[in-house]
Amino acid sequence: MPLRGPKVLIVDDEANIRQSLRGVLSDEDYQCTAVNSGETCLAELARESYEVVLLDIWLPGIDGLATLARIQELPFGSRPAVVMISGHGNIETAVKATKLGAFDFIEKPLTIEKVSVVVKNAIQQRRMDLELQRLHEDNASPEIIGDSVPMKALRQQLKLMAGTNGRVLIFGESGTGKELVARALHALSQRANGPFVEVNCAALPDDLIESELFGHRRTNLDGTPDHKIGKLQKAHGGTFFLDEVGDMSLKTQAKVLRALDEHRFEPLGAPQSIQVNARVVAATNKNLEREIERGNFREDLFYRLNVIPFTVPPLRERAEDIPVLATHFLREFSLAYGRRPKELSEDALAALVKYHWPGNVRELRNLMERIVILHPQRRIEARHVPLDAARKNSGNKPWDGFGSLQEVKEAAERDYILRKLEESNGNVTRASEMLGLERSNLYRKMKSLGIASKE
Ligand SMILES: Nc1ncnc2c1ncn2[C@@H]1O[C@H](COP(=O)(O)OP(=O)(O)OP(=O)(O)O)[C@@H](O)[C@H]1O
Ligand SMILES: [Mg+2]
Repeated sequence: MPLRGPKVLIVDDEANIRQSLRGVLSDEDYQCTAVNSGETCLAELARESYEVVLLDIWLPGIDGLATLARIQELPFGSRPAVVMISGHGNIETAVKATKLGAFDFIEKPLTIEKVSVVVKNAIQQRRMDLELQRLHEDNASPEIIGDSVPMKALRQQLKLMAGTNGRVLIFGESGTGKELVARALHALSQRANGPFVEVNCAALPDDLIESELFGHRRTNLDGTPDHKIGKLQKAHGGTFFLDEVGDMSLKTQAKVLRALDEHRFEPLGAPQSIQVNARVVAATNKNLEREIERGNFREDLFYRLNVIPFTVPPLRERAEDIPVLATHFLREFSLAYGRRPKELSEDALAALVKYHWPGNVRELRNLMERIVILHPQRRIEARHVPLDAARKNSGNKPWDGFGSLQEVKEAAERDYILRKLEESNGNVTRASEMLGLERSNLYRKMKSLGIASKE
């Protein structure tokens, strides 16, 4: 049994009620806190998050209903379920409270059964609401930026194929936007109101992936049931995104193949199979045909998944998208970090366009975030764009693109200092220790190299 159960906040001005509720709930392993007024309740909720609040209707100071109204203003994710406690005289108020968003009410005199059932249901309901909300947020339609010929073609293909139920396999190097395409397919489909559920096959070890995909039914040593709903079941009515499908073991591949063929599957340890209706979209950065030759990927599964192939081209093959992507990400991070809007100088843009982007759009996005963090000024020049790797990697002459020894020295210094600043999380004192420099010296160097301090 878990040592620390869900958190419950008890709000009642009568000490004996606080005490008995605390006793009952603590026996059931809830973590209880008890307060005696609406004001202290709200203060406690601002400090800590609770899953359930047991709230007396009649309270000195602001009463139960007013407290409830304030709780309903909390952001969804941190809002507890509220159960009202009512005396004989105020059942009607309690009913009104449920209309205002309370989950339920319990009437005095309180009994152990009433309290424990209502609290348990409230927690269950709240967790389900949160999960639903999360699935909805995941569905937000993403914007695919870029007007190069290959991206226009991709958008066209998306429009044509989104409405069908055909399985889609998305190919593309790491960071090209495969997940974005999968989400767009979902958002443009008739299933857009259903869930989009993702499983990353590379992130999970083999034994976990099966229970993640199919769910399980077990009994713990102490006899309590341990049921897990698989992601495939959660995707019912929506889209199921199998990311990094090339990293699935042969054993899991066999099970997935069966589930795809039969549209049903059995949770591990469950006696019955479950039927699902989900559109399957898979993605991989591997060459699956080569994996098939090597015996790492099942050919039959490949053909089942690859009904409609999509290819997201690497960023270096659509360099004309780089300026608009870079500008987009600069704007996004300036907003997120509360910085002034920025613009890229022509030289800076030219350097970005020339680079070969092995990490594709993700690398560009990360670089723009780093620039926003490190450089407060509005105009970003080429020297603020740490693409020395680009120079090193473009052919065999690592110092191409440098005009003088001074520039080489500065680029190396800038790169090294930036790295140490990153390692020290922007802490200049720590970075100066790592670099063996006086703090004031490092400041001066940073200034002359155009590195802004995060502090
Ligand atoms: N065309 C685009 N427009 C806007 N943002 C993009 C575009 N392509 C990619 N991105 C952004 O770049 C990042 C990487 O994209 P995504 O996660 O879709 O790539 P991926 O191909 O799934 O990568 P990996 O193989 O590493 O999983 C995300 O933050 C995504 O939003
Ligand atoms: Mg991905």
